Amino acid sequence: MKRVLVLNGPNLNMLGLREPDIYGHETLDDVKGLCLEAAEKLGLAIDFRQSNHEGELVTWIQDARGVYDGLLINAAAYTHTSLALHDALKILDIPIIEVHISDPKKREEFRHFSYVEPLAVHVIAGQGPKGYVQGLEKLCELL
Ligand code: DQA
Repeated sequence: MKRVLVLNGPNLNMLGLREPDIYGHETLDDVKGLCLEAAEKLGLAIDFRQSNHEGELVTWIQDARGVYDGLLINAAAYTHTSLALHDALKILDIPIIEVHISDPKKREEFRHFSYVEPLAVHVIAGQGPKGYVQGLEKLCELL
């Protein structure tokens, strides 16, 4: 069974409460539930994690080497700021899919640049929580 790490960055633990007009009413637990359901159908084993700490995300990415076959990442605000995440992702030799609930390219200009995008084989944005399922399906195709 292929193993996939699903990483979520800062403030995604506040989904459901946070700007529901942009991110909707589903919580991160709901997103996790969708991912677990999709993983079961696709025959993937997933680890679903969230952190508000850049360094913790960097460590999880480093530790993914040799353990996981694919990475699905919503780096949230660190997408637009974190060279450290970019460098950590560069070391990984597994397919990386970038996912966002909203479409950052259609929002404020400071969200248009992504440090993750150059390292991702595929980007899914603006599809809401079902973007995570689409990301897992894409990873499944690739693996
Ligand atoms: C986000 C988009 C980012 O710009 C923002 O900082 C987030 C969430 C999304 O899923 O739409 O925290 O990654």
